[in-house]
Amino acid sequence: MAEKKIMLSGIQPSGNLHLGNYLGAIKGWVERTDEYDNFYFMADLHTLTVRQDPEDFRRRALEQLALYIACGLDPEKNTLFYQSHVPAHAQLGWVLDCYTMFGELSRMTQFKDKSKKNADNINAGLFTYPALMAADILLYQAHYVPVGEDQRQHVELTRDIANRFNGVYGQTFRVPEAYIPKEGARIYGLSTPEDKMSKSIPDGCIFLMDEPDVILKKFKKAVTDADTEKWIRFDPQNKPGVSNMMNILSALTGKSFEQIEQEFEGMGYGKFKPACAEVVIETLRPIREEATRIMKDEEYLRSVYRKGAERASVIAEATLKDVYDKVGLTYK
Ligand code: TYM
Repeated sequence: MAEKKIMLSGIQPSGNLHLGNYLGAIKGWVERTDEYDNFYFMADLHTLTVRQDPEDFRRRALEQLALYIACGLDPEKNTLFYQSHVPAHAQLGWVLDCYTMFGELSRMTQFKDKSKKNADNINAGLFTYPALMAADILLYQAHYVPVGEDQRQHVELTRDIANRFNGVYGQTFRVPEAYIPKEGARIYGLSTPEDKMSKSIPDGCIFLMDEPDVILKKFKKAVTDADTEKWIRFDPQNKPGVSNMMNILSALTGKSFEQIEQEFEGMGYGKFKPACAEVVIETLRPIREEATRIMKDEEYLRSVYRKGAERASVIAEATLKDVYDKVGLTYK
């Protein structure tokens, strides 16, 4: 039997997981579990680029693991682990820092955005972060990196770094491809349809652990559009709020925009918003309930992440050894 191709991705436990993370990333991971050899991790080292409350950070990371499983990632079929539990990430990260150019890192839009938001803490980690992300990916010789649109630039840089290294030392890293979903690749905030949904704007952000009444409230308050037309039509330019909700609905139900337009023909926003909320509530209900149940069993979660780190380490160490040999470091 041919070996399965490798899929790898991670999410920072920088806040509670939200619908953007689910539609941009996790949903696709779950759907392709059987097709690939899968590595999914909590990108906790990346989260240190912003100051964290230690206890809250630890809880979020563990809850993230519980949510991965509750969303349908079976730990028997997916290697689930903490980035910080596999030291090869930090080790290769340093080596790749030395093969990544200042100019390249300066061009990263996420760095520019985050520097604006954290003007009092523009630390070196925030700047070199994409080289660590490249290490995360290249250690596992990943074929595909399933992420939302906002991570495309980082995967492109990873490809450049891999090609540069391979060019100097011969074939060392597989050059990966970003795997970006057709629907759900960029979900916008419900209260700010011009910005991507993110935990930093909680009013318009649906968290996977939100209770049904909270979800309904957020949808009812969702910003619709200033145009005089009050019906449901997909038009991101003139109707960004409605189009974003249609995108969410389409990603969750598989219905096309035309089907959604037909379904809501003649109805106004007053009917549309609660209908969207309902679909989101019913999608998230079993996930929330399952995550709450799993969170009570810390022993189980520990066994999952320990086994995950063990398996991940074997593969990561093999790549690290190859890199050490090639650059002239002595592998232990
Ligand atoms: P992060 O933690 O910001 O986001 C995790 C995943 O969720 C997707 N995403 C979204 N998709 C659609 N709409 C949104 N509003 C939205 N918000 C977030 C992101 O595209 C991402 O797929 N650097 C990465 C984490 C990382 C990583 C890696 C990913 C570290 N190492 C290696 C892949 C491979 C990040 O900060 O994602």
